[in-house]
Amino acid sequence: MEGVIDAPMRRMLTGIGGYSRCVTEFIRVTDVLLPEKVFLRLCPELVQGGMTESGVPVYTQLLGSNPDVLALNAKRAVDLGAPGVDLNFGCPAKTVNNSMGGSLLLRDPARVGSIVASVRQAVPAQVPVTAKIRLGYDNAESLQEIVECIRAAGATELAIHARTKFDGYKPPAWWSRVKTVVHEQDDTTFINGEIWTVADSLEACRRSGCRHIMLGRGALSAPDLALRISTGDSSCAAPLAWMEVASMVEAQFLRSDSQSPRHIGNRTKQWLAYLKRSYEEANDLFGRLRTLHGISEIQAAFDAHRQWYASCAGQPD
Ligand SMILES: Cc1cc2nc3c(=O)[nH]c(=O)nc-3n(C[C@H](O)[C@H](O)[C@H](O)COP(=O)(O)O)c2cc1C
Repeated sequence: MEGVIDAPMRRMLTGIGGYSRCVTEFIRVTDVLLPEKVFLRLCPELVQGGMTESGVPVYTQLLGSNPDVLALNAKRAVDLGAPGVDLNFGCPAKTVNNSMGGSLLLRDPARVGSIVASVRQAVPAQVPVTAKIRLGYDNAESLQEIVECIRAAGATELAIHARTKFDGYKPPAWWSRVKTVVHEQDDTTFINGEIWTVADSLEACRRSGCRHIMLGRGALSAPDLALRISTGDSSCAAPLAWMEVASMVEAQFLRSDSQSPRHIGNRTKQWLAYLKRSYEEANDLFGRLRTLHGISEIQAAFDAHRQWYASCAGQPD
């Protein structure tokens, strides 16, 4: 996920478990073959075989609209060791759509198909080429056609975010609308959107007919969600304790966010905003960090939060 799930975050989340693969933040492809350093910056895992430390493959995500140039860049990613290439046809961002990328392409299913075909041809047959779409641009009327074009072009897997671009991120996600394009025993179509709990994952699969899911914000809101889904823990009896999660947030801050020259603290704040959904305690930490931008003051806020938490723990409910 752009701007929030970078390599240290992938390492942390896949270290908890439950993931069979993940993707990089997107590499925006316009009209040139990008230098190797761009791929290595967004996917440092390439130097270790394209896997996270816990052995989960990291597919390189490309976003663009030119089939030939996307193919060249996909080949470069694979030559550098990417175990798979993921194509983004779901991004609703204005800047991306203005340059004819992301979900805007859903208005032109044939072009989506030609992009997938071009990338498929450019990389060896054993390397997965996956695609991510929404139900459509302003409505879901072309979903069948979009999916047929993607499958005919040879995509290995397809993840469907069950909302249109016009829906944005507004709940609900229309899981049942995906059912029309899912086959019996379909292992290549993944349902995505509004999956925050184990119960949501079961309901999304039931309504869509999919057997596999892709997590989005839920992965940030509950870092052990994939593990609990994969082990079938629908009771949600023992999610990670807050202090364990808070330590992960601090470690992530130190490894990633504090290194960012211009936006220190932004990724941490964004993660905390999602954590608030599952952990009430995240509100306190978020409140302390919200206006801070310096490394030492943010670290002091983590310390103060720990003291606050310890003092609350001693209080009766
Ligand atoms: C901050 C943010 C960044 C995202 N970045 C990407 C991205 O790089 N590629 C992509 O295919 N989807 C991206 N998405 C969309 C998510 O993958 C997912 O499809 C969407 O959030 C719906 O799932 P959810 O309701 O479970 O979050 C992003 C979403 C958010 C909120």
